[in-house]
Amino acid sequence: MPIYILGIESSCDDTSAAVLSDTEVLSNVIANQQVHSNFGGVVPELASRAHQQNIIPVIHEAIQRAGIRKEELSAVAFTRGPGLLGSLLVGTSFAKSFAYGLNIPLVEVDHMQAHILAHFIRPKLSEEPVPQLPFLCLTVSGGHTQIVRIDDYFEMEVIGQTIDDAAGEAFDKAAKIMGLPYPGGPLVDKFGKTGNPRAFGFSKPNIPGLDYSFSGLKTSFLYFLRDRLKEDPDFIEKNKEDLCASIQDAIVGSLMEKLLKAVEQTGIRQVAVAGGVSANSALRRAFMAQQEAGVIQAFIPEFQFTTDNAAMIAIAGYFKFLKRDFAEFSVSPYSRVVS
Ligand code: KG4
Ligand code: ZN
Repeated sequence: MPIYILGIESSCDDTSAAVLSDTEVLSNVIANQQVHSNFGGVVPELASRAHQQNIIPVIHEAIQRAGIRKEELSAVAFTRGPGLLGSLLVGTSFAKSFAYGLNIPLVEVDHMQAHILAHFIRPKLSEEPVPQLPFLCLTVSGGHTQIVRIDDYFEMEVIGQTIDDAAGEAFDKAAKIMGLPYPGGPLVDKFGKTGNPRAFGFSKPNIPGLDYSFSGLKTSFLYFLRDRLKEDPDFIEKNKEDLCASIQDAIVGSLMEKLLKAVEQTGIRQVAVAGGVSANSALRRAFMAQQEAGVIQAFIPEFQFTTDNAAMIAIAGYFKFLKRDFAEFSVSPYSRVVS
């Protein structure tokens, strides 16, 4: 009998539900929230209201698409944190009542661990390689930028991280400076495809060890554009592709530099990437280039498992289910990373 896990993700602005049969995805439904695009960022109050509207239809569809009855579910896994508290509360409350009603275990999942464990989502009998323990993972999202050393499924150590903005935030802020809507990361990627990454140079951060910093880059980009716009008010419009390619090159260059330093320091050559920014085409190319050069063995998740999704919550839930690591029904969400 396979283990069927329902995963629920509601930490930010995507409501998602997925059903896994062991490590295989039967369904992965994601409802994006459009309400934030005019605000230049996620508005927490609007996000939790949209989650409330979406959660029942999204879960209903996930179970229906999976082709199972809800009574066949083995457990309900949900994102406990980190994320927006109001948003997390919607998923948490629903997960609790659903698991309680079905009389099945409740499993709490950490969102950042789930991004990493998404690498173990596999169709049955798949021959595709998975990362061998221990491995390193560059976890890059809108809220986090970390180099994590993974010794076991739930034994992870952050060995480097940003001291200010996250990489996704750097993409989104650069996009916002150029007048692009939120979230701008995918648009920078799109326009950058036809631009010259060497067209413009921006100041590089000088941070010791394996940590990152992106706030200086944002300021350097802002001042650079302010000066150019004084000379030519259409500067951004005329140079959009080159600007996107150049800022992307600066962010990806910085991400790779510290990651390769971590490979050298730890001697671990199995290297994965996770989180929304791992959808970025330049970052993916940089990973593949290092693999081709024989420096690392690269693991890049399938596109649909890079940004926030519930399949990653369900796979993390599956591994906890195997350990019988269940949550109490009194569990409450946490908004920040607990260490
Ligand atoms: O993991 P995620 O979906 O949500 C968080 O947990 O934050 O990551 C979202 C972030 C946003 O900052 C978004 O702009 C960025 O990932 N992102 C990208 C791309 N796709 C998503 N950044 C650059 N290039 C992309 N293709
Ligand atoms: Zn995320």
